[in-house]
Amino acid sequence: MNLLVTGGAGYIGSHTCLELLKQNHNITVVDNLSNSSEESLRRVQQITGKKLSFYKVDLLDRDALNNVLQSQSKKIDAVIHFAGFKAVGESVQRPLWYYQNNVQSTLNLCEVMDANGVRNIIFSSSCTVYGNPDVVPVHEDLPLSGTNPYGRSKVMVEQVLNDIYQADNRWNIGLLRYFNPIGAHESGQIGEDPLGIPNNLLPYISQVAIGKLKQLTVFGGDYSTADGSCVRDYIHVVDLAVGHVKALEKLEENPGVVAYNLGTGQGYSVLEVIAAFEKVTGEKVPHIISGRRSGDAAECYGNPEKAKMELSWQAERSIEDMCRDTWRWQKANPNGYC
Ligand code: NAD
Ligand code: UD1
Repeated sequence: MNLLVTGGAGYIGSHTCLELLKQNHNITVVDNLSNSSEESLRRVQQITGKKLSFYKVDLLDRDALNNVLQSQSKKIDAVIHFAGFKAVGESVQRPLWYYQNNVQSTLNLCEVMDANGVRNIIFSSSCTVYGNPDVVPVHEDLPLSGTNPYGRSKVMVEQVLNDIYQADNRWNIGLLRYFNPIGAHESGQIGEDPLGIPNNLLPYISQVAIGKLKQLTVFGGDYSTADGSCVRDYIHVVDLAVGHVKALEKLEENPGVVAYNLGTGQGYSVLEVIAAFEKVTGEKVPHIISGRRSGDAAECYGNPEKAKMELSWQAERSIEDMCRDTWRWQKANPNGYC
C-alpha cells in the first residue's frame, strides 16, 4: 500500500515505519520534528535496507500538507496518524496548544485527505480515553472520558472521526487505543528519546540505571494493589507497531469505524517493573517511595481479546523483553539520537 505516516519520526511512528517497510509498503512520512529527529528515519532505512520519503511539514500548515498529497505519483491508500503532543502535565499547563496541535491538526489532515479522495485512517488513541476506570480490564465498549486536556483531545478526535464516518460511510477508521508502550527495537538503534527529564516510567528507570539521574521516585506505595504501587499494561513498542500492520489489513475489509485496545492484558506494578529491569540488566535502580502523583489511577490494564479475534494480533513480548530492549537502546545511545 501507499501510506502517509504523520509523526513517523517519533517513538511509535519510527518503529511502525520499520515494520511497514518490512512488509514492502511504500511510505511517506510527514513530521515537523517538534519531538523527534530525522536520524530515527535514517536508521529505520538502514536497518531495513529500504527507502521511505520524508517531508518536514507541520500538520497545522494545511497547504503544505495538501502539497505533499498532491505531489504523490501514486495515490495514498491510507494514513497512519501518530502526530501530536503527549505530555499530560504540559497539556494541563498549555491546553490551547494541545487542542490546536492534537485536534486542529487532525481536522486539517481529514480535510486534506477528503479533498484528495483518501478516506482510510488509523488514529493513535490511548487508554487515557477510559479516564480513571472503575473496573479493569477495560474493554472497548466503555464510555469515554478524558481527565485532562491531553486525554480530552484524544476523546474529541475519536468523536470527530466517528462523525466523519456518520456523514460519509466511504471512510474506514481504525481507533487504536494503546496502553503503555515501552521497549525499543531489538537492534538497539531506534528507541524512545525523550526531551529533558522523562515523565514516563521506563525512560526514567533507564536514565537512573545509566547514572544520568540519581534515583527513581515511585509515585505512591499505598494503592489497593498487591504491593501498593500502581499497575499498568506495558506493551512492547514492536508488538504495538505490528498491531498497526494488522489494523491496516483490517481497513482493507471496509469495516467502517473500529476501535481496538492494543495492550497485553497483563498488569505489572511499578515495583514489579523495577524488579524485572534489575533482573534482566543486572543494574540497580535506586528508588524511594513517595506520595501519589495527582491524576494517576491505581490500576489500568486492558482486555485485548477484540484485537486478537478481529486483527489476529496479540502482544508476544514479555516484560523482561521490554526491559532488556529498553536497556540495549539506552546503553548504545546514552544521549538519544544526538
Ligand atoms: P512522539 O512525540 O515520539 O511522536 C509524535 C511525533 O509527532 C513526533 O515525531 C513529533 O515531532 C510529531 N508531531 C507533533 N506535532 C506535529 C505536528 N503538528 N505536525 C507534524 N508532526 C508533529 O510520540 P509517540 O510516543 O510516538 O506517540 C505517537 C502517538 O501515539 C501520539 O499521538 C500519542 O499521543 C499517542 N500515544 C502515545 C503513547 C505513549 O505512551 N507513547 C500512549 C498512547 C498514545
Ligand atoms: C501516562 C499518562 C497517560 C498517557 C501515557 C502514555 C498520566 C497521568 N498519564 O500514563 O495519559 O497515555 O502516559 O504516554 O501522566 N511512575 C513512577 N515514577 C515515575 C514515573 C512514573 O512511579 O517517575 C509510575 C506512575 O505513577 C504510573 C506508572 O509509573 O503508575 C507509569 O507511569 P507513566 O509511564 O507516566 O504512564 P501513565 O501514567 O500510565
